Amino acid sequence: MTYPPPATAPADSGDELVSQFAADVRRHLSKQPRQLPSRYLYDALGSSLFDAICELPWYRVTRAEMRLLVRFAPRIWSAVLPLDRLIELGAGDGRKLAAFLSGRPTGLAPQRVDLVDISASALESAARAASAVDRTRVVQHHATYESGLQAASGEAPRGRALVLFLGSNIGNFDPSAADALLGDFAQSLRPGDALLLGADLVKPEGELLLAYDDPLGVTAAFNLNLLVRLNRELGADIDPAGFEHRAVWNERRSRVEMHLVSRREQELRIPGAGIALTLKAGETIWTESSYKYRPEQIRGVVERAGFTAAAQWQDARAGFALTLCELRRPH
Ligand code: TRP
Repeated sequence: MTYPPPATAPADSGDELVSQFAADVRRHLSKQPRQLPSRYLYDALGSSLFDAICELPWYRVTRAEMRLLVRFAPRIWSAVLPLDRLIELGAGDGRKLAAFLSGRPTGLAPQRVDLVDISASALESAARAASAVDRTRVVQHHATYESGLQAASGEAPRGRALVLFLGSNIGNFDPSAADALLGDFAQSLRPGDALLLGADLVKPEGELLLAYDDPLGVTAAFNLNLLVRLNRELGADIDPAGFEHRAVWNERRSRVEMHLVSRREQELRIPGAGIALTLKAGETIWTESSYKYRPEQIRGVVERAGFTAAAQWQDARAGFALTLCELRRPH
């Protein structure tokens, strides 16, 4: 099977992206509290571990979203057809894309499927899922959401685009960053374009903590893998056993916070990022937040960015919502 080449330079081989990683590590680890940007969780091993998380009984986001996609795909398609372009941001393993595509009316397909992901391995599997659609061109963008969407949306005139932004990835942005991100999407899109947003809902603390700190330790491995990546790509020599994965529900901010907690006082030397720092025992590196929404807050965030929430479907069992939005005409 052959795939079109990625529309952007491959990242893993690019010095430019390595130095972006180095610069981000330096800047975020120097903050108080110390941080590492969550997008770097998704190297090849991280992406595989994340796929494994999606199989865990305690992480219900993926299955809930899949149920909604399978059930409502025909309605979503009838709301957006005719469709020129289907764009998925953070396509992951491509299974949701495949489920959504197979719910389309027979004979009707978008001209183009554009896949945007920062993980090269995820892009490959998503492209495989999309290549099952006859006569549809699959374009890969090894890029961040914003720059990938801009490239996918394009300059030339085109028909309607539908953007899939699933997996509660919106939840990994704090409220002001979520507003900025959706505002950025609106800038790249045209009136009449659609956005399908998947967001996890607020639920009891016990369920949330099991979803982000599972008894098998897969989520812990996923989080700790970030340290292994620092060793491999930036020449650090961090002992992952010197850290512990911790998930905390912050009720006031409505988010689960993921941390790597230092088990002892230790020095971290990261030559590739040009930094060395001492962590106290119990000091944490904050790697990710996962905000949980109430249904009306989802409508609020899309409306502020210039979209109209046209329909919303919820999975009551797992507490998850899919919201179909349309970009309004500016006035
Ligand atoms: N977008 C996913 C979420 O917030 C990402 C995720 C799931 C995640 N489990 C995680 C990120 C554990 C860091 C650690 O649900």
